[in-house]
This record gives sequence, structure tokens and C-alpha cells, in this order.
Amino acid sequence: MRSHWTNRWAFIMATAGSAVGLGNIWKFPYMTGTNGGSAFVLVYLLCVALIGLPLMMTEIMLGRRAQRNPVDGMAHLATEAGGTRWWRGVGYMGIAAGILILSFYSVVAGWVLHYVLRAASGDFSGMTATQAKDQFSNFVANPLALLLWHSVFMFLTMFVVARGVTSGLERANKIMMPSLVVILLILLGYSLAVGDVGRSIEFMFRPDFSKITPAAILSAMGHSFFTLSLGMGAVMVYGSYLQRHASIARAAFYVVLADTAIALVAGITIFAIVFANQLEPAAGPGLLFQTLPIAFGRMPGGTVFATLFFVLVGFAAWTSSISLVEPAVSWLIENTALTRARAALLVGGLIWLIGIAVLLSFNEWSEVKLFGLNIFDLFDKLTTNILLPLGGLLMALFAVWVMHAAHAQEELALNDRHYRRWLFVTRFVAPSAIVLVFLNLIGWLPFI
Ligand code: PFF
Repeated sequence: MRSHWTNRWAFIMATAGSAVGLGNIWKFPYMTGTNGGSAFVLVYLLCVALIGLPLMMTEIMLGRRAQRNPVDGMAHLATEAGGTRWWRGVGYMGIAAGILILSFYSVVAGWVLHYVLRAASGDFSGMTATQAKDQFSNFVANPLALLLWHSVFMFLTMFVVARGVTSGLERANKIMMPSLVVILLILLGYSLAVGDVGRSIEFMFRPDFSKITPAAILSAMGHSFFTLSLGMGAVMVYGSYLQRHASIARAAFYVVLADTAIALVAGITIFAIVFANQLEPAAGPGLLFQTLPIAFGRMPGGTVFATLFFVLVGFAAWTSSISLVEPAVSWLIENTALTRARAALLVGGLIWLIGIAVLLSFNEWSEVKLFGLNIFDLFDKLTTNILLPLGGLLMALFAVWVMHAAHAQEELALNDRHYRRWLFVTRFVAPSAIVLVFLNLIGWLPFI
């Protein structure tokens, strides 16, 4: 007997927990900063609405119908529809993507844990820009420190996963997600009081089309998959733990809304603090770790709010990381005699090992490059810009061209008008958008 979420709120909370993560609070602000602000935000919002929402519905639908892990789920659905079992490749690709993502995600989440302690010890107060930079560079130059925090984070992740669907994943999300929202609102209030919210909003929302480049479009699309956890079976496996009667469209809508709202609020809060202190929005991945501490260090109550901030980021990362391994763990326990705890240990151990290569790419192995990218950037780009959109594309094509329409319709339970809309977008709009962006990436369509 497979486990299921206790109710549909547990599912929504867990899927929102998966979606809201480093992608929202670390990646989205820094990508907005380096890609010129509002142009990037606009393309990202378009991708979320046009591709993200229908695909979220699709992935949940596939999971709930299959009632299996993503690999066997795809094989089962394909057989049911008279298609080839090769579709299970989509499941394997998802497992691989999850393992690769967590191996770099956990390293960054480890930085966050380290910064919780630094913030709480009042380290940031009165810090100059150079000090902030030096402290961050010294920290990432130290492989042992990174290893320690990467290990702590992997332990936390596997601990929850080992406890299972209801007493592990569900309980963790039920506690952490509401806390996250409360902390974020407190921080928003704080930035309204002491930050430059006007400039922040202008930076994020005042359209400047000259800044829309092909690279920015690809990043925005890739990011819409990453931030919504789409294309790798995480949402599919969560959907497979969902009971029959819950409405998929409504659940998908709430999750997408929560993820987008949290990214935007986090962005507004962070840039308001950055601008109020005349700092640089385009600091890149170091934005959270080099730029924000300077700002917190100058502000009233900075120690408390900085600590809260990094705790928030830590919670967000934790509820996402557990979903990154769930496809692999569920596949192992449904196909071998391994217990959940052992499967978690095995997958966690593998990711921990790969993570060591990632953390070395910040110091000892910084010169090791493939396609001009170090290991960290390579894993990030490969998964975000290629594996996730490709996985999403294949799932969309599968749902509308292979699966029986009656089955999809029965599972989605939409009225005719909404069903036709979903069908149209999943059949034509989402796949062609993804393919166009891919073609443009490999230089076939130098159209923008
Ligand atoms: N959505 C997470 C974030 O925004 O941080 C990252 C993620 C989790 C991506 C789970 C993919 C996934 F399957």
C-alpha cells in the first residue's frame, strides 16, 4: 500500500514547499539583478503563466493517474495508452536531474546555514563592502568548511525523507511553510520601513525592452521550470501521493501563485534593502551573501533581521531539497527490497559525494572546466536550461499526444472550456515555446 497525503492541503503545502526555495530567494533576485531587472521579470512571469501553470497541472495529473514513482509511472501510463515503455526514460532523466540539482543546491544551502550562525553572532554589524566580500571569498575558498555545511544540510534532508510521506515530508512542510510566510512578511514590513521600496519596484517592474536578450529569455524560461520544480518528476511523485477526489487545477493554481508571490516579495524586499544602501543589484550569486550582509550591518535591528532572513532561506531550501530526492527514493523502494531509510541513505550518499566535486569547484578545482563552465555552473546550466525544459516538453507531449484524452480529462476534471484551453496550451503553446528557445540557444534561430 503506498502512502498518501492526509488531505489536499498537505499536498498543496508540500508542493509549494518544493517550489519555494533557493530558486525564489537566492536565484530569482540575483538573476533579475544580472539580467537587467524588469525585462527578465516580465519574461519570467509570461513563462510561469503560459508554460508553468499548465505544465504543473499536467505533471500532477500524470502522477496521480500513475500512482507510481516517475519511472514506473511513465511506463505504466504509456502501456495503458498503447504506447512504448521507453517513456520511462523521462522518469530516469528526472531522477538524474534531481541528483545533479541537489548536489549543487545542498552546497549553497550549506552556505545559508553558515550565514545563519554568522548573522546571529552579530558579525555583520558595521561591516564594510570589502570585508563582506573577503569573508565570503575566504569562506568559499575553504573546502573543509563547505564540506561541513554541505554534510549538515544533506543530513537534514535525508532525515526528513527517511521518515516517509506523512511523518517526514508532510510534517516538515506543515511547520516550515507557514513559518516561512510569517518571516517573509516581517522582513517585507522591515524593508518598507527602512528600505527603498520605490526604487526596488521600479527596478523590477518598469519595462525596458532593450534589455530582453536571447540569453535573458532562455534564463527566464529555464528559471520558470526550476522555480516551479517542473520537468523532473518531483511534482509528479508528489501528485502520485494525492487522493483521487482533490481538484488538480485548483491545487496547481495555488502552488504557482504562492511560488510567484514569494519570489516577487523576496525580490522587492531584497532590492529595497540593496538600493537603500547604494549597493549594486547586479552582484550575481553573491548578492545574498556579500551584498545583503553589508546592508543588514548598517541597519537598525540588523542582527535580528539578518538572522531571520537566513533562517527563512534555510527553511525554503530544506522543503525543496526533500522533493529533489523523492523521485529517486520512491523509485528505489518500489523496485527493490530496500527500506525507505536505506534508500534515502543510498541516494543521499551519492548526492553527498557528487556535491564534493561541486564544492571543490569553488576552490581546488576552480580551473576544471567543461564548455567553459566550472562544475557548479555546468550542473546548474545543464539542469535548469536543458534537462528540466526537456523533461517538461516530453511530459507535455506525452499527456496530449500519447495518453487517451478521456483519461486526461477524467483526471483533470475540468469543464469543457477549461479543458480545451489546457489542451491547446499543452499541445501547441508550451511545446513550441520550449522548442523555439532551444533552437535559438543553439544558434539556429538568431531572431532576437
Ligand atoms: N523549486 C526549487 C527552488 O525554486 O528552489 C528547486 C527545485 C526543487 C527544482 C525541486 C526542481 C525540483 F524538482
